[in-house]
Amino acid sequence: MKFKNTHKDHEVTDEKIYQSRRQLIKAGIIGGASVISGSSLALTLPKHKNNSKFVLDELTTEKDATTYNNFYEFGLSKSAPSKNADSMKTEPWTIQIGGLCEKQGKVDLEKLISNFQLEERVYRMRCVEAWSMVIPWMGFKLADLVKYCQPSNAAKYVYFETLYDPKQMPGQNGRSIPWPYREGLRMDEAMNELTLMTVGMYGKKLPNQNGAPLRLIVPWKYGFKGIKSIVKINFLDKQPINSWQAIAPQEYGFYANVNPKVDHPRWSQATERRITGGFSLFNSRIKTQMFNGYGDYVADMYKGMDLAKFY
Ligand code: MTE
Repeated sequence: MKFKNTHKDHEVTDEKIYQSRRQLIKAGIIGGASVISGSSLALTLPKHKNNSKFVLDELTTEKDATTYNNFYEFGLSKSAPSKNADSMKTEPWTIQIGGLCEKQGKVDLEKLISNFQLEERVYRMRCVEAWSMVIPWMGFKLADLVKYCQPSNAAKYVYFETLYDPKQMPGQNGRSIPWPYREGLRMDEAMNELTLMTVGMYGKKLPNQNGAPLRLIVPWKYGFKGIKSIVKINFLDKQPINSWQAIAPQEYGFYANVNPKVDHPRWSQATERRITGGFSLFNSRIKTQMFNGYGDYVADMYKGMDLAKFY
């Protein structure tokens, strides 16, 4: 897949956008020199080392990030996705846009991506299972895609679905999850500048096990919000039910904001293990931060909400 980028950095003249971008760079969320301007992702991406001075945490190794995965469509163990996900064909790939928006119908992913500006973002990722990683992702703002779809005023939520094809995704022959995998965001969460539609990591295209060719990354929420291999985007007026809520509503909510004060019914969320060299009980255990450390960018959206109730 080639990534064309028609949007030039200098066209973004709005001072507010510029300032918020500077803020993100300062906080280590995005790399200053990492906007892709060429055609091929692999050829034009600066190495993630280029922006390492902006990164607050040590990067997880590419090997860990691509071999310790959750992708139930390819098996339940952490090692299964990297072994089995080759059976998924990701080119060509079609996205179905629908619901309460102007743009309707199927669009080729490559064409869709050519409308948006890609950038590298180093994010802390916190899984609900209390482990974490730090990964250099590559993608475009979901906000840009939402604007492109022109939702109506009635649209309050964005809803996503993963590919359903048991021939390519053998795990879908089992009933671990009501397939296809589903996720949703409130409109303001979707429009938040941190929310990334992701097409690459470590300067390369996403490997299948990490959700190729298009996945969601929402760094202040638990990892399960990061739905992989997306084929459907819908705009809804009602809050959708995500896959983990459907399986265990007493354990997983719609919001899934990282919150060290609200424990999972079966384990604490106060700390997390950083994955290095695979999962080990010797991995460093660190304190989990409210909103995974991204409170400055997202806390306002939840003002006045009881986050123990809306977990
Ligand atoms: N998306 C789909 N379609 N199927 C899944 O099983 N697992 C989720 C999320 N997205 C999952 C999914 C969970 S539980 C986590 S923690 C992250 O993907 C893991 O992403 P990673 O393997 O890239 O670290």
